Amino acid sequence: MARAPKLIVGNWKMNGFGASLHEVRRMLDALAAQPSPHRIVLCPPAVLLHRIAEVCAGSQIEVGAQDVHHERPGARTGDHAAEMLHDAGARLVIIGHSERRTDHREADGDVAAKVQAALRAGLEPIVCVGERQAERAAGEAIRVVRSQIEGSLPMSLDGQAFAVAYEPVWAIGSGLTPTLAEIEAMHAEIRQALSDRFPRGGASPVLYGGSVKPVNAREILATAGVGGVLVGGASLTASDFLPIVRSADQAAS
Ligand code: PGA
Repeated sequence: MARAPKLIVGNWKMNGFGASLHEVRRMLDALAAQPSPHRIVLCPPAVLLHRIAEVCAGSQIEVGAQDVHHERPGARTGDHAAEMLHDAGARLVIIGHSERRTDHREADGDVAAKVQAALRAGLEPIVCVGERQAERAAGEAIRVVRSQIEGSLPMSLDGQAFAVAYEPVWAIGSGLTPTLAEIEAMHAEIRQALSDRFPRGGASPVLYGGSVKPVNAREILATAGVGGVLVGGASLTASDFLPIVRSADQAAS
C-alpha cells in the first residue's frame, strides 16, 4: 500500500549567501535525475527567498519562509508581511520556532496570530512546538507540548493544509535526539491533541526536528507517526540534505 509522502523541510536559519544558490542547483540536478516521491521544502533567510524561489520554479523543491509578521503590509520596519513572502515565492512558512520563541519572546498567542496571517495570504504554516530539557526531566514534556498546541494553533486551521513540527529545544543544534520510542510517544500525543482540537485535523503531518542528520534520518523517518523532518544544519549543503531526502524514500519503501 502506498504510504503518504513525507514532508522534508530544510531550515537555513540565519545562514546562506548568494553563493549558496550553487548548493540549491546541486539539489535540483540530483532531484531532476532521480525524482523523490516526497515533498521537499527549503526555507532560506528572507533576503534569499526570491532568488531561491526563482531557481526552484517548476522544480520539485518548494520554498518557504522562516517567520512572518502578523499584520498586513504597512509601517513595520524590518518585518515581512505574509502577502510579501507569498509574492517573493514562499508557499509555506515556519512559525513559532524555539529560536523565535526564545530570542524574540514569542508567546503562543503571537504564534497563533502569525498562523492567521499565513492563512490569510495562502501560506501553509509549519508550527513548531517542543519542550526544554528541564521540562522533560521534570516529566512535563507532554503537558508543555499539549499546551503549546492549544495556544499556538487557532481553530481557523481546521480543514486547512498545515504541519506541526515537534522540536525538543534541547535537541536543536546539539547532536542529541530523543530515543525513537520517545519520538513515537510524543508524535502519538500530538496526533491525539490535533484530533481532539480539530474535527477535520486528522491528516496534517507531524514532523520531527532537532539534530536530524544523514546518519539518523532513516530511522527517524521510519518511526510510527513521523510525517517528515525539519532539518537545520544538515539542510545547508546538497551533500547532507540529499541523503536525508533519499532516507525518506527508503523509510517509505
Ligand atoms: P538542527 O535544527 O537540525 O540544526 O538541530 C533543527 C531546527 O531548529 O529546525
